[in-house]
This record gives sequence, structure tokens and C-alpha cells, in this order.
Amino acid sequence: MASITTPMSSLPTQNIMILGASGNIGREIVHACQAHNTTNPSSPFRITVLTRTSSYTRTLAQFPSSTNLQVLPIDSYTDTDTLTTILRAHNIQALISTIATFNTKDQQRIIDASVASGTVRRFFPSEYGVDTSNRELLVKHLPTAFLKQENVEYLRQVSSGTNGRFTWSAIIVGAFFDWALALPNVMGFDIQNMSVNVIDGGDTKYEATNVGQIARAVIACLASEQAFNDTAGQYVYVNSFTTTQNEVIALIEKYTGRSMQRTPIDSLDLSRKAREQMDAMGGLEAYRAYETTAEAPYAPGAVESILACIYGGEKLNGINQYSMREPGLWNEKLGLPKENLEDTVRGVVEGLGMLKKQDL
Ligand SMILES: NC(=O)c1ccc[n+]([C@@H]2O[C@H](COP(=O)([O-])OP(=O)(O)OC[C@H]3O[C@@H](n4cnc5c(N)ncnc54)[C@H](OP(=O)(O)O)[C@@H]3O)[C@@H](O)[C@H]2O)c1
Repeated sequence: MASITTPMSSLPTQNIMILGASGNIGREIVHACQAHNTTNPSSPFRITVLTRTSSYTRTLAQFPSSTNLQVLPIDSYTDTDTLTTILRAHNIQALISTIATFNTKDQQRIIDASVASGTVRRFFPSEYGVDTSNRELLVKHLPTAFLKQENVEYLRQVSSGTNGRFTWSAIIVGAFFDWALALPNVMGFDIQNMSVNVIDGGDTKYEATNVGQIARAVIACLASEQAFNDTAGQYVYVNSFTTTQNEVIALIEKYTGRSMQRTPIDSLDLSRKAREQMDAMGGLEAYRAYETTAEAPYAPGAVESILACIYGGEKLNGINQYSMREPGLWNEKLGLPKENLEDTVRGVVEGLGMLKKQDL
């Protein structure tokens, strides 16, 4: 398959805005834009980071202003007109949402502002997880994410009346891999304590993407006219690798020189327990109203259901096995580099200061 990332003399959308850039994936996207600018000095992205006023000082410290980067504050995302004015004033052509919130109303207001601006040509909703394209599966296995699916439905609806002037792309990545592996118990692994929750025996294949690769995928959609056109109105499926928990465990043990303590877990059991918590909370409408906070970033049952969906394979209807079915991966079409599981695990173990002596 031919790559569609052949550099063009100018970018389809030069002025891009990133929402939530101070967060886990947002900051990687800013870095990927800056990397693009370093290697393509004649056609750089002009990056605007929009941050809530409450985070402004912190975000400014994270991203000092430079030639092609500015940080702007916004009080909140509740006022569509204010956001529309900002988008117009800065002639924003692509808007990349990486905000943490599951609050669909916020995202829909941001979409409304983008359409109203008349300048935004591409919208990336805050997806970056398991495949949310099938509403039935989401409602069954991952109700917290049905709001993401509703955002894409809304994007389909509003974009259809714009004659191609306003488009969207939803980036699907499975599990954040290197980021989650370094943190205790985010995705079942706790390398510091050499323990792991092993789902369904650990041999189920799942999709995993390093955060740098996620950011490259977003930027690749904007890096050429052809990629921009091909990814319009698409779920864009990417990964770093398809792996299994047992492959990851073997590499952790190889590079630490220590054994992991394994706790077996059944994905359907996990999913059922998550479901009970979610039902007790009040069903889908309760999710619509749920507001995340720094102390409670996830709704009850969300973490357990995410874990079940990531590792549950066939038992969870293959919700995180998208490389194994049509339309397949976009990696090659977007010119993404091949990544290596072993190098990634070694890097995480080294980053945690746990590399065994002879590997130092
Ligand atoms: N697949 C996976 O394994 C995985 C893992 C993690 C995240 N994700 C997905 O990636 C996306 C981004 O997650 P993240 O972990 O990068 O997020 P995050 O770091 O928790 O937060 C991102 C940014 O969102 C803004 N924000 C926080 N709360 C907000 C609110 N209530 N309203 C508006 N903005 C708010 C903040 O930016 P400012 O303070 O600058 O405004 C924050 O820095 C989400 O869709 C999430 O589901 C997937």
C-alpha cells in the first residue's frame, strides 16, 4: 500500500488549536507538532493551546510561547459564542480536543463553536481509546464511552450540512501502552511492586499504542492534502503493536530479572461487577450528567469496564481487536513508524530504574 504522507509544499490546515494540551495525550500532540515544525521549517504548524483560566499559569509554564506556539486562556467551555470568537480571531483551521471530560455537552458546544466559526475544517473529538464506533457494544460493555460515540454521531450530523467544509476524524488507539505501563495499576500492571492482574489467562490479543505514536497519528492526518482528505469523516485505527499480557509480562521479567505475582481475573466477571456499579449509579443518563473532577476522574465502574474491554478479546466482542478486522489499521497509509514491543517494555523498565544489572 502506498504511503499518503508525501510532504506537500503547504499544509491543508496550518493553524491548529489543541484543547487539553496540558494533559497526558495533549502534551504529546503539542510535542509532535513541534517535531514536525523542526523537520519542516518551511511549512510549520501554528499551534494555539487553549487552556482553562484555572490552569493558565501552569500550562504557560509547560509551553513557553515561541514563534509558532501561543497559549490562550478560556474561562470554561460553556459559552459557545466566546469560543467561536476565539476560533475566528485566530483563524483556527483544525481543532484537536484532548479534554479529559466525558461531558458530552461540553464537546457538543465545542463542535457547535467550530462549525459556527466558519474557519475550522477538521475536528478531532477526544477519543483515543477502544473502538467506539459500535453503539450497541458500548452500551453493553463500556457505557461511559457511549458519550464519545454520541459526539461522533453529532459530528456526522453537523458536518453533513457543510458540503465538506467541516469534517472530523476519530483516532482509535486501544490502550495507551508506555504511559500506562509506567503507572501502577492503570492497566492491570504494577511493575514497581512486580504484580499484575492477568485477564482470562493473559493470552488474549489486544491493541496497544505508545503515546508518541498516538500524537504522530493525529499530526499525520493534517500533514498532507491527501491524508487530510482520506481521513475526513473516518474512524482512524492505529496502534504500536497487537500484543498479549503474557508477552508483556515475559519482557518485564526478562528486563527486571524478577518474577511477577499474577492475580487471575475473568473479563466477564470484571465487566459484570463494573456493570453493577454503573447500574447503581443510574444508567446512561447518569453518565450524561456525570462531571469528572481531579479527585474522581472516572465514573463508578469505568476503570473496571475499560480493563475488561481492553483485555477481554472475543468475550467482550473483540472491542479492542480492531487490527484483526476490516477496515484494519491506518498505520501504513499515515506513514507511521513500526514500533517494537521489546524496546518499549525495556524503556519503561529502565525509566522506572528497575533494569537488571547486566542490562544497564
Ligand atoms: N486508551 C487509553 O488507555 C486512554 C488512557 C488515558 C486517556 N484516554 C483518553 O484520552 C483522552 C484525554 O485523556 P487524558 O488522560 O490525556 O486527559 P487528562 O490528562 O486527564 O486531561 C486533559 C486535559 O483536559 C482538560 N480538562 C480536565 N478536566 C476538564 C473538564 N472537566 N472540562 C474541560 N477540560 C478539562 C485539562 O486541560 P486544561 O486544564 O489545560 O484546560 C487537562 O489537562 C480522553 O478521551 C481519554 O478517555 C485513553
